[in-house]
Amino acid sequence: MIKCIFLFSLLILVSLSSQLHDPENSNPSPSPAHAELTNYGFPIGLLPSSVQTYTLNETSGVFAVDLGGACKITLPPDNYLATYSKKVRGKIVQGRIAELEGIRVWAFFKWWSLTGIRSSGDDLVFEVGMVTAKYPSSNFDETHDCEGKHSSS
Ligand SMILES: *[C@@H]1O[C@H](CO)[C@@H](O)[C@H](O)[C@H]1NC(C)=O
Repeated sequence: MIKCIFLFSLLILVSLSSQLHDPENSNPSPSPAHAELTNYGFPIGLLPSSVQTYTLNETSGVFAVDLGGACKITLPPDNYLATYSKKVRGKIVQGRIAELEGIRVWAFFKWWSLTGIRSSGDDLVFEVGMVTAKYPSSNFDETHDCEGKHSSS
């Protein structure tokens, strides 16, 4: 319990100080789902800004995020095109997302379904089955709006 309170105050301190130090970023945590990501050690940029609702079972870590519709964003730093299904599901524990469903990335001339994401020091490790790719977490510090949200595709 003490530990929880400590962690909670630490999170508040961290979010306050990031607001103070980053005045341009007026919306550091656009939704409770994004805040939850940071609670688990992930940057908010892993989810687009369009989160409508989410559910999380804190015992099992099973989550579902509703984005209101399919969504396309371009991920830094290599401008990989990523598509999100209306529902993104998975299982989250501290520093690790597994059994991920609903995020696909276009790379090497093919669509890859992300199966997991791990936080490893200052890096994020993206998993596609046994294949992994590592990027600095700082590339995902900002959340992006869906592109072409109003198009008919
Ligand atoms: C949450 O997960 C636990 C462990 O798998 C399960 O026993 C429990 O029923 C789940 N709660 C809800 C509300 O689904």
